[in-house]
Amino acid sequence: MKILVTGGAGFIGSNFIRFLFRERPEIGVINLDRLTYAGNLENLEGWEELAGTNYRFVRGDIADPKILEEVWAANPIDAVINFAAESHVDRSIESAGDFIRTNVTGTLALLEAARKHGVKRFLQISTDEVYGSLGPTGKFVETSPLSPRSPYSASKAGADLLGLAFFETYQLPVLITRCSNNYGPYQFPEKLIPLMISNALEDKPLPVYGDGLQVRDWIHVEDHCRALLLVLEKGTPGEVYNVGGGNEWPNIEIVKLILGALGKPDSLIKYVADRPGHDRRYAIDFTRIERELGWRPRVDFAKGIKETIDWYVKNKSWWGRIKSGEYQKYYEKMYGWRIKK
Ligand code: NAD
Ligand code: DAU
Repeated sequence: MKILVTGGAGFIGSNFIRFLFRERPEIGVINLDRLTYAGNLENLEGWEELAGTNYRFVRGDIADPKILEEVWAANPIDAVINFAAESHVDRSIESAGDFIRTNVTGTLALLEAARKHGVKRFLQISTDEVYGSLGPTGKFVETSPLSPRSPYSASKAGADLLGLAFFETYQLPVLITRCSNNYGPYQFPEKLIPLMISNALEDKPLPVYGDGLQVRDWIHVEDHCRALLLVLEKGTPGEVYNVGGGNEWPNIEIVKLILGALGKPDSLIKYVADRPGHDRRYAIDFTRIERELGWRPRVDFAKGIKETIDWYVKNKSWWGRIKSGEYQKYYEKMYGWRIKK
């Protein structure tokens, strides 16, 4: 069995590859990643050797049909798991082109290659953001209307619809998962939790958008990975599976929890200009995957967030290298105007 994992040098993809090596060491993995700013081979350091000949890394773009032909020519591929994406909402608000190119055109190129060569499974990693924003009550179910509100979520919704169209039109065995906000090790420090931990450790301001009362449903990346393997192996093609943590938190409470755990003062919190079109609340109803595949989140949030904070404390060299390079220009561009206001 050989799986083509795209975006395997990013946050969830690299956690998934490590999870797979532990749970299914017999499965071969080809990791196709373009190594954008978010891709980092250090995320897999130490694991490549363990997997021996079962693992291969290819640097390449999922939107490039020539690279895909080369990958397929060199390897018999049984299944595709598409993690590769531009994933940060704020960057999509600055400029949407790369999001359309990778998330829509790239997914289309992968679907075309998978259709041409035939695969047993094509798992598209999607997001709860395709459903839009909730009021104070209710949860997203798989049949909730798609109502994306940022260029990022619009591009992910486009990819989902292409996947479902390939299932209906060509009977390509496409499965889709839509997960809520992940946390855990190796998350790029532009996202809320690693940004707040690393800024707090450096005694820098913690930029909270708007009133900080937006709500997210946090799930440990390990629980997400377990759901993905289950859907890959036992899910029904053509279907969508919601995955969530059942763990809603207003942003400001997460930020205060991080400060408390690190023994840093709340005075580091800096309320800044809101994200345009900011989704107010996400909450996932995961009854379907629970009923049909027996999945539930297992990681207790109090324990998971403590271990995650400890990981960033211990791995300052990992995020320190990221935050010292090109990232500084990004931070100045995205936060300079907000923080000076
Ligand atoms: P990430 O930004 O950390 O990683 C994305 C990876 O994709 C990087 O390694 C990058 O180099 C690679 N990549 C980007 N463009 C590529 C291209 N054209 N060709 C090949 N590789 C390319 O993202 P993440 O947080 O790990 O998210 C992974 C997937 O999960 C995404 O599809 C995202 O939409 C989805 N998702 C994320 C979350 C979350 O909370 N992070 C929740 C639900 C769904
Ligand atoms: O819900 C799943 C999605 O979760 C994924 O599809 C996305 O790839 C992932 O990035 C994430 O999107 P969010 O926009 O919810 O995540 P982010 O970490 O960017 O922000 C979480 C919340 O924190 C959101 O309400 C915005 C807020 N925020 C974020 C940053 C970076 C702040 O208040 N300040 C910040 O500096």
